[in-house]
Amino acid sequence: MENQKFKGQVALVTGGGSGIGWAACKAFARAGARVVVSDINEEDGNRVVQGLIDCGGEAMFVRADVSNAAAVEHLIDATVGAYGDLDMAFNNAGIEGDLAPTADYSDEAWDGVIAVNLTGVRLCMKHEIRQMLKHGGGAIVNNASILGVVGFANASAYAAAKHGVLGLTKAAALEYAASYIRINAVCPAFIETPMLHRAGLTTDPRKREAIERLHPQGRLGRPEEVAAAAVWLCSPEASFITGHPLLVDGGYVIQ
Ligand code: NAI
Repeated sequence: MENQKFKGQVALVTGGGSGIGWAACKAFARAGARVVVSDINEEDGNRVVQGLIDCGGEAMFVRADVSNAAAVEHLIDATVGAYGDLDMAFNNAGIEGDLAPTADYSDEAWDGVIAVNLTGVRLCMKHEIRQMLKHGGGAIVNNASILGVVGFANASAYAAAKHGVLGLTKAAALEYAASYIRINAVCPAFIETPMLHRAGLTTDPRKREAIERLHPQGRLGRPEEVAAAAVWLCSPEASFITGHPLLVDGGYVIQ
């Protein structure tokens, strides 16, 4: 473990079994936090926990579907039951949904994306905030997207959910600023994770190049670059920052 910035503190990461969430679990653990890795995928989550323990960290897995209210309540109860508190949370779990024009977007796909990417973040925040209020504060980071700031053709549900995440972030940041709970968001551009692989955007060289060209830095982002931003927003260095949507996008949005 590199440093002990978060020694004695408890960090929760949803969607911690893969991609950006996995990178965040490693970053929190390297900074000395006890990490609750949560995911809907038990196998991936347990593998991440084992990896953290093998590197000298302290971690546990709690399975939770973030779109399920009872499961999220249980997640926070299990966190506090095992580690006694909750100091930091990275609400990261998300799905890509379908790619289709708005008029053709299926109702089922819409409901699924909104349930996980928007309602899931709301449910997590609700229970995290209740716990943090009991203990005098905390820091929450929601994983939005550049699609929380700009549109993207054929991704109406995803863009609507991610714009919603930024609205939630700002409203809650105002509500709890005086209660020592900081609530921020990260807005990544295209990051090389299994989500992009599934969409075929990293395996097909022509598609990959087209996506890379959308970023002024000329490349995809790395999960570790988003994790570093999320961990920094949770840290004391970001003590006067709340309600902020931090772009981690290689310049995508400034064009
Ligand atoms: P990923 O697919 O590698 O990881 C997502 C994780 O969330 C998986 O482990 C999955 O099992 C879990 N998950 C899915 N549904 C869940 C549910 N209902 N409850 C609990 N866990 C669930 O994807 P990636 O790329 O790491 O995405 C993480 C977050 O970053 C998502 O919110 C995504 O929208 C966001 N994001 C990703 C970008 C990218 O280009 N990869 C860009 C901008 C934002």
